Amino acid sequence: MQSEPKLFQPYDLGGLRLANRVVMAPLTRARATAGTDAANELMVEYYRQRASAGLIVSEASQISRQGQGYLQTPGVYTEEQARGWRLVTDAVHEAGGKIFIQLWHVGRISHVDLQAGGAAPVAPSAIQAKSRVFTAQGFVETSPPRALEAEEIPGIVADYVHAARLSRQAGFDGVEIHAANGYLLDQFQKDATNHRTDSYGGSIENRCRLTLEVVDAIAKIWPSDRIGIRLAPVSPANDVADSDPQALFGYLVRQLDARRLAYIHVIEGATQGARDFAPFDYAALRKAFRGAYIANNGFSRDMAVEAVEAGAADLVAFGRPFIANPDLVERLRRDAALNTPDNKTFYGGGAEGYTDYPTLAASAAQPVRLH
Ligand code: PHB
Repeated sequence: MQSEPKLFQPYDLGGLRLANRVVMAPLTRARATAGTDAANELMVEYYRQRASAGLIVSEASQISRQGQGYLQTPGVYTEEQARGWRLVTDAVHEAGGKIFIQLWHVGRISHVDLQAGGAAPVAPSAIQAKSRVFTAQGFVETSPPRALEAEEIPGIVADYVHAARLSRQAGFDGVEIHAANGYLLDQFQKDATNHRTDSYGGSIENRCRLTLEVVDAIAKIWPSDRIGIRLAPVSPANDVADSDPQALFGYLVRQLDARRLAYIHVIEGATQGARDFAPFDYAALRKAFRGAYIANNGFSRDMAVEAVEAGAADLVAFGRPFIANPDLVERLRRDAALNTPDNKTFYGGGAEGYTDYPTLAASAAQPVRLH
């Protein structure tokens, strides 16, 4: 019998044994408890259903009220939020899975309605994003941000540290720093959104300073082999761009390599869009980094099998397929048909379109949704 593709074989992620190399990508679903933004029983069920992923990366979770950009995304800055997440991590572990939490500060991708006292969202520079967020009023334009004072930056790093501590308390296996998709760290990294003239703007080194300060501060809470980071070198998500992403991310990844992080998780191409959105040499990042390389964006089963066999990636992250297929790993293993996600229930709401997608076994008994 031919051996299984490597994609389905175990992987040692810095001492953490993953059952396979399929990663559940972070997915914003906006079902945290209204008012407290704490994870709840419905979320427990959703993550439990998906625990056969080799690794789950949780939906992005704000490290502070200031870091929130959408209604009912979960936080990880209060004791109550940590208790909610503990229920999730216990359920995933009981089901044999592993889970990292994605730590998030949205920066300018927010709205005054979500900020304490109706304050302006913060950003490296006071440049409004052509992007939308959702509030109690539905999808709305982002609010004009204000530029952070240099004196405020240590406070933001301290918020990451506080969230990293609560993440340990909540029983996660590690943390993923969200430095992608045009949120705060990516806004600092890229020159279209960072016009600062202090030590956090200008040169590539300066623009990567905040990200690396966050990494170094979190590395005092978590061992470096339990810290990953998500990057999106060329993605235009949330209205960001850089004049030389190859140089920028080449520098950043060399710095991350020196810090011996567990992994870099790279969105290849445009987030939720074309993989060939802009030319970029991803293999150069992989070569510069000794930890694991998680590839993401629009992978089919065959592409994922091939990427891992060829050594282009150690692990492959799937996003939208995990929304509609709790047993995605089993379906990929068997090359079975996939359920189609319903985009009307992506953000907010209850169990519908969240915890009611059938497994193969359930579909065999009752062939609904399967196509
Ligand atoms: C989204 O809400 O669509 C979203 C959130 C975080 C991301 C990307 C997309 O990194």
